[in-house]
Amino acid sequence: MTEPAANSLPDFTGHGYLQVLQTLHEVLQPRNYLEIGTFTGESLALSACASLAVDPGFPFENIELVRRIVSKPRMLLFRMASDLFFEQHDPCALLGDKVQLAFLDGMHRCEFLLRDFINTERHCARNSVIALHDCLPVEEPMTDRSYLARPSIEPHRQHWWAGDVWRTARLLRRARPDLSFTTLDAPPTGLVLITNLDPGSTALADRYDEHVRTMLGWSLTEIGLAQHVSDMQVEPTTDYVTSEQLTTRFWL
Ligand SMILES: C[S@@+](CC[C@H](N)C(=O)[O-])C[C@H]1O[C@@H](n2cnc3c(N)ncnc32)[C@H](O)[C@@H]1O
Repeated sequence: MTEPAANSLPDFTGHGYLQVLQTLHEVLQPRNYLEIGTFTGESLALSACASLAVDPGFPFENIELVRRIVSKPRMLLFRMASDLFFEQHDPCALLGDKVQLAFLDGMHRCEFLLRDFINTERHCARNSVIALHDCLPVEEPMTDRSYLARPSIEPHRQHWWAGDVWRTARLLRRARPDLSFTTLDAPPTGLVLITNLDPGSTALADRYDEHVRTMLGWSLTEIGLAQHVSDMQVEPTTDYVTSEQLTTRFWL
């Protein structure tokens, strides 16, 4: 048997990120949902509450997903990049409430996700939940800062672009020890759930340039994929698909 390459991990098993998100919606019953990065609408279709989605393009093509997306009591779509959205709009004013559940899955570069987190947290309550996608890459080529920069190691992962948002998850753990993290090995590339938010915190924004320099200085080759998973204190998804486990950590 051949040894697995150091720059590739086996696929995560257990419940996929969409299933975990669906359970979060069902169990927490958020009054509203903010999504950055929607693409064909698979994650957006999971929410049943007032929802706001931001994406420079919404290439919806599946009519069943579209039916679910438009069946919510309120569905606001902003066709623009998230930076411009936060510059021009106030999600609390649009939703009539603090953001309760957010899923950040837009541009897969660490500084973009850091800005999306900073901008979203400002509009949350302490017990709101912000979910980050793709922070647990399973091989190195998928962490390039450009899509399809290199061929994947495992052929079935060719389109799994995680980018370098793994850096943002590490930065948040380091720069914001006040936040509460639950990091799940949801296939394909993990789901990080963050609560105990502080909408008044300026710890990230005040030192934004320094944080970006710090993140870009990290090398996943040096850290190691397995070490990153270990540093992120990853837990199995199987513990988080029951309402019992979820409600011990999250309540809205
Ligand atoms: C991985 S897809 C989202 C998938 C979707 N959340 C799901 O789970 O089905 C990433 C999306 O982010 C969008 N995107 C890229 N740059 C963005 C930006 N600056 N602001 C908001 N969305 C962005 C892309 O257009 C793409 O549709």
